[in-house]
Amino acid sequence: MNTAVTDTQSLIETSTFLRACRREPVDHTPIWLMRQAGRYMPEYRAIRAKHSMLEVIRTPELAAEITLQPINAFGMDAAIIFSDILPPLVGMGLNLEFVKGEGPVIYNPIRTVADIEALQTPPAEENMGFTLEAIRLVAAELTPRGVPLIGFAGAPFTLASYAIEGGGSKNYEKTKALMYQYPDAWDMLMRKLATVQADYLLNQAKAGASALQLFDSWAGLALGMQDYVRYIQPYNTLLFAELEKAKVPTINFSTGTALYLDEVAACGGSVIGVDWRIPLDLAWEKVGFNQAVQGNLDPTVLLTDWETVKTKVDDVLRRVNGRSGHIFNLGHGIFPNVPTDTVKRLVAYVQEQTSR
Ligand code: CP3
Repeated sequence: MNTAVTDTQSLIETSTFLRACRREPVDHTPIWLMRQAGRYMPEYRAIRAKHSMLEVIRTPELAAEITLQPINAFGMDAAIIFSDILPPLVGMGLNLEFVKGEGPVIYNPIRTVADIEALQTPPAEENMGFTLEAIRLVAAELTPRGVPLIGFAGAPFTLASYAIEGGGSKNYEKTKALMYQYPDAWDMLMRKLATVQADYLLNQAKAGASALQLFDSWAGLALGMQDYVRYIQPYNTLLFAELEKAKVPTINFSTGTALYLDEVAACGGSVIGVDWRIPLDLAWEKVGFNQAVQGNLDPTVLLTDWETVKTKVDDVLRRVNGRSGHIFNLGHGIFPNVPTDTVKRLVAYVQEQTSR
């Protein structure tokens, strides 16, 4: 057996994060934060001052460097590859830009059945080769250090909402109009997106990602339970079934889905992401104890004083009640105005407080 293989095997067996994904006992509760590499870090802002968002994503050395920044500064139990959920849409035919102060914009949004028919489904190696290369670089650095790397992709619905609206959205009007009025076109769009994302995620695992997270960030903000079951569940289920080929833990993340977390969990995922809109014990009960959970501190709490943060963290941990299979995280991404000192204390506190 060569050294690399031995290292990977030992990472899989000993990483607290990967053990928690499999609901195995751990020596402390693993913690990482969604958007942990980002604007709240001065090291990140220094790189972004010189390069655009897409430039950084398309330069494997820069993406790798940013991925490592929070690990080196705060010692999280897992890294997440630096990229975004939207770049895979570019190779499908969409013209994406990250506009300063505005967020992502798609200049040629999908509006007709013909637009959906015209969407390409390029293989990941061709479409997202730069991120796969960044994963290889980071895995080579982190595997010997015993830190796992999470790969990720956007879920079909959340990506469809950007592709159709042309950017962020409040009411998802165009997306839902297309979904309700043209169910066959919706089916074609969701299948194309699921195909591209499944191939992308499987290739991330091949490149060295030891877990895969699917971000369906807007599912529950847009759709009620009956629509989730009808318009999202079949495609996320297809995707998670496909991901079983990767033989790595998978994380099924969404927000606003507290009311129907059981339906979310039914799509698949070794771990179910839980936002802050439901207490973790109640969420886990809805999910069922044969899946792990990740979350669920309100991201806003990190803007308060340390005593308040501690009280809220203690409440999350109390609701876990020592059960195996909890990964500490925020309920959604960290805000850019969180003090780095709070992040440092949070990571250390969770790791020390749960140490056994
Ligand atoms: O978690 C991580 O650290 C990995 C990197 C990551 C980013 N985006 C970096 C990013 C991940 C996993 C994402 C996912 C993502 N991107 C989602 C799903 C997760 C979520 O937060 O709901 C969504 C909906 C997007 C789309 C997106 N990208 C938006 C709406 C924006 C603009 C809003 C904002 O926060 O500025 C982005 C830009 C983006 N993606 C930034 C980062 C660090 C900010 C870019 C910058 O200005 O430097």
